[in-house]
Amino acid sequence: MRQSPALTSIFAIPLLLLFLFPSSNAHNITQILAQHPEFSTFNHYLTITHLASEINRRLTITVLAVDNAAMSSLLSKHLSVYTIKNVLSLHVLVDYFGSKKLHQITNGSALTSSMFQATGSAAGSSGYVNVTDLKGGKVGFGAEDSNGNLDAVYVKSVKEIPYNISVLQISQVLTSTEAEAPTPGPGQLNLTAILSKQGCKAFADLLIASGADTTFQENIDGGLTVFCPTDTVINGFMPKYKNLTAPQKISLLLYHGIPVYQSIQMLKSNNGIINTLATDGANKYDFNIQNDGEEVTLKTKVVTAKLTGTLKDEEPLVVYKVDKVLLPRELFKVAPTTKAEAPKAAKEAAAATPAADSPEGDDVGNQTADNNGASGLDGGRLIMVILSFCVGFLAL
Ligand SMILES: *[C@@H]1O[C@H](CO)[C@@H](O)[C@H](O)[C@H]1NC(C)=O
Ligand SMILES: *[C@@H]1O[C@H](CO)[C@@H](O)[C@H](O)[C@H]1NC(C)=O
Ligand SMILES: *[C@@H]1O[C@H](CO)[C@@H](O)[C@H](O)[C@H]1NC(C)=O
Ligand SMILES: *[C@@H]1O[C@H](CO)[C@@H](O)[C@H](O)[C@H]1NC(C)=O
Ligand SMILES: *[C@@H]1O[C@H](CO)[C@@H](O)[C@H](O)[C@H]1NC(C)=O
Ligand SMILES: *[C@@H]1O[C@H](CO)[C@@H](O)[C@H](O)[C@H]1NC(C)=O
Ligand SMILES: *[C@@H]1O[C@H](CO)[C@@H](O)[C@H](O)[C@H]1NC(C)=O
Repeated sequence: MRQSPALTSIFAIPLLLLFLFPSSNAHNITQILAQHPEFSTFNHYLTITHLASEINRRLTITVLAVDNAAMSSLLSKHLSVYTIKNVLSLHVLVDYFGSKKLHQITNGSALTSSMFQATGSAAGSSGYVNVTDLKGGKVGFGAEDSNGNLDAVYVKSVKEIPYNISVLQISQVLTSTEAEAPTPGPGQLNLTAILSKQGCKAFADLLIASGADTTFQENIDGGLTVFCPTDTVINGFMPKYKNLTAPQKISLLLYHGIPVYQSIQMLKSNNGIINTLATDGANKYDFNIQNDGEEVTLKTKVVTAKLTGTLKDEEPLVVYKVDKVLLPRELFKVAPTTKAEAPKAAKEAAAATPAADSPEGDDVGNQTADNNGASGLDGGRLIMVILSFCVGFLAL
């Protein structure tokens, strides 16, 4: 009988690891292209459009890379980054074409599906790429909606890992009216809807009421990290919030977002000052990220808040719960500096009591009451869970 918990643990560990590392990537397109400076622009755009992570997730894929000169003619069209994403996703074929297969296409011509088609961004049959063997050993490429034009020809093989990924250079960017059509931002991630459903409704309501939600929403595609004070924390803070002017309210809310995607691992390895959505100019509305082992804290000079869980992590958006409203020094009185000079132990003891951290009263109600209310498991907690499984196993 005593065996069964141990057995459960033995099976649970690999299972947990599987959840922790769902995609031990067989390939990394960023790394592959980084060895070839002539593709640096293409590589850069794969990263900022998040196509790189999509490519890394998939197997049996072909990337049609173009050099910096070809990229600059695409960029000269001044398309939005979402549109560029569509154009580049046309250059990712969801089939494996090594240089050998390229020259042995059945009947000399094939239509192959691209990621543009596969992600459902393309209408009808656009999103397919015509690959045709031409005279003199050439291979032509063209978007299917390009009126039979084969815009580009095969130049060389950059990297082939059969049958996981093939990276081939082609001479030009494929033109496609469908892919180049103006695209609204994906917007399938509705931040306030996500927040409302998962324990941050009070914060979401403030975002909507103040109009700050637009700024948050606009930043999602480029990467956004949100620190959301939980409902009890916001409720306790409301008397002070109501005292702020409308622009101050917006600044306070924008202070809870940073315009870059920061996974929990990135936060844990990145101590230092970080700009927020409220930052306008140097040293304004920033705060300090500090790690103490597994704990991530955000220090504003007025308060120190802790991350209590992950509400949503889907690159380019990540939302963490925090146990305090982040109070910027631009709007609230800074904690007396005498405290900073106090011995470390005393300082930490003081920090443990929220009210003592700032006599001015950044006491935002029951700020610690929600510490355990976090629904997400962050990396730290998962590691704790795994450790406890291991300890349980060893003990038996
Ligand atoms: C291809 O991907 C699979 C699955 O990720 C991996 O096991 C395999 O080692 C990869 N093949 C090569 C040649 O890298
Ligand atoms: C891929 O490589 C780049 C550059 O070396 C690195 O920054 C990135 O973290 C890697 N991505 C993955 C998923 O390993
Ligand atoms: C190749 O051409 C033949 C004859 O036109 C046709 O029957 C066959 O379906 C074609 N194969 C492919 C893969 O298109
Ligand atoms: C690809 O384009 C060429 C040139 O326009 C055309 O002749 C061929 O039929 C096309 N192939 C397919 C499979 O549509
Ligand atoms: C997000 O969802 C809410 C309803 O939950 C809706 O009122 C709002 O318009 C949506 N916002 C965006 C940007 O789609
Ligand atoms: C609101 O502002 C007034 C005037 O500055 C101040 O006396 C009062 O204490 C403030 N209320 C809260 C809840 O901060
Ligand atoms: C704090 O929490 C307790 C119990 O959860 C509750 O009775 C009390 O009213 C709360 N205080 C504030 C200021 O929200």
